[in-house]
Amino acid sequence: MTLLPVPTTAIIVVAAGSGSRLGAGAPKAFVGIDERSVLRHALDGVFAAGPAQVIVVAPAERAGDAETVLIEAAGDRRDLGRVVVGGETRQQSVAAGLRALWGDITTVLVHDAARALTPSSQIDAVAQAVTDASGVIPVLAVIDTIKRVDAESIVAAVDRSELAAAQTPQGFPRELLAGAYAAALASGAEYTDDAALFAAAGHPVRHVPGSPLAFKITTPDDLDRARHLLGGTRDSFSAVPTIPRVGIGTDVHAFGGEGDLWLAGLQWPGEQALSGHSDGDAVAHAIVDALLGAAGLGDIGQHFGTAHPEYAGAHGDVFLARTREILAEEGYAIGNVSVQFQANRPRFSARRAEAEAVLSAALGGVPVSVSATTTDGLGFTGRGEGIAATAIASVHPIR
Ligand code: CTP
Ligand code: MG
Repeated sequence: MTLLPVPTTAIIVVAAGSGSRLGAGAPKAFVGIDERSVLRHALDGVFAAGPAQVIVVAPAERAGDAETVLIEAAGDRRDLGRVVVGGETRQQSVAAGLRALWGDITTVLVHDAARALTPSSQIDAVAQAVTDASGVIPVLAVIDTIKRVDAESIVAAVDRSELAAAQTPQGFPRELLAGAYAAALASGAEYTDDAALFAAAGHPVRHVPGSPLAFKITTPDDLDRARHLLGGTRDSFSAVPTIPRVGIGTDVHAFGGEGDLWLAGLQWPGEQALSGHSDGDAVAHAIVDALLGAAGLGDIGQHFGTAHPEYAGAHGDVFLARTREILAEEGYAIGNVSVQFQANRPRFSARRAEAEAVLSAALGGVPVSVSATTTDGLGFTGRGEGIAATAIASVHPIR
């Protein structure tokens, strides 16, 4: 076995919940997604990230099973892992994990096993962003329009630009987190997540971009979504594999619209806008045509054209979410999307992850990759007259 240097980062994977909302007849972490359990998938992501002490917090009656899963997932790194028994609440389970930290640990990440498909890059990004004085959490932009409601009515609109959905792992400097946990224990306060507990002790928490893949498996629908993302549906695990279909879509818009540019689901302040019936987001529109084409369901003009005034001015996420619905109504799930646009501007690479997260979220969490290229000054994109995008998508029948 390879001798590894003692890590200074630890990841506490909380897996001691009962999974009452999932209702699968077993603690959630031990429910199968495919042939692998929720905990196994979560640990595969954890062990694919940079070396860290890994503490799995399990229900008392499942500690032995957790040990087996840990050994299988850890491979070469089994010396870095151990299992401890959790408590009644998530907060108590994290506290149990904290008691098992090695002396050398300076950075602690707390991660929900239930976020089983979290990319290892998200774990690394959080670990790297923790400082001596501040915590960090991954967040996703809120896509839906949010309302404050009472029993019957809409009470108020809420500005979603001020909101974000928190994910895990959440990372903290060890000493400050231990102090914050001690304070919470002394006061008896229960917090909804570690960031809230850490902030209540007076420490700042910053955010980094999360991933749609880091969604928490909470309900049976979430488990189905995880199964789709792993390439199979509940039925297709036992039945005939389905044959994927692919489609292609292109779109072009000229510069010349009002306001800021909207492209790849993002607003680009200060960049020249594209003209069009909607916001002119050629990237989103090319994806829509690729998806509709893959499923044999017509094209964007048919479903969203000028005969549909409700889409005037609509942004790409609205088109994509509706396209996903149209496909689902016809029995298709989306496999993946790859899209490339040609333009001199905007400079894209710094916002690639953000664009991919927004487009992916609008499509229910499927992988979306976006690339950009210039055309060496040639053609209308080279002359800076507009933007062209080409997308390819795969879909598969789900019944
Ligand atoms: N968790 C834990 N100990 C608890 C409660 C929760 O370690 N006493 C863990 C869960 O295993 C999960 C994460 O915290 O990985 C997020 O909690 P949640 O999604 O609420 O899971 P459960 O509590 O298991 O589900 P439910 O609330 O539906 O019973
Ligand atoms: Mg719970």
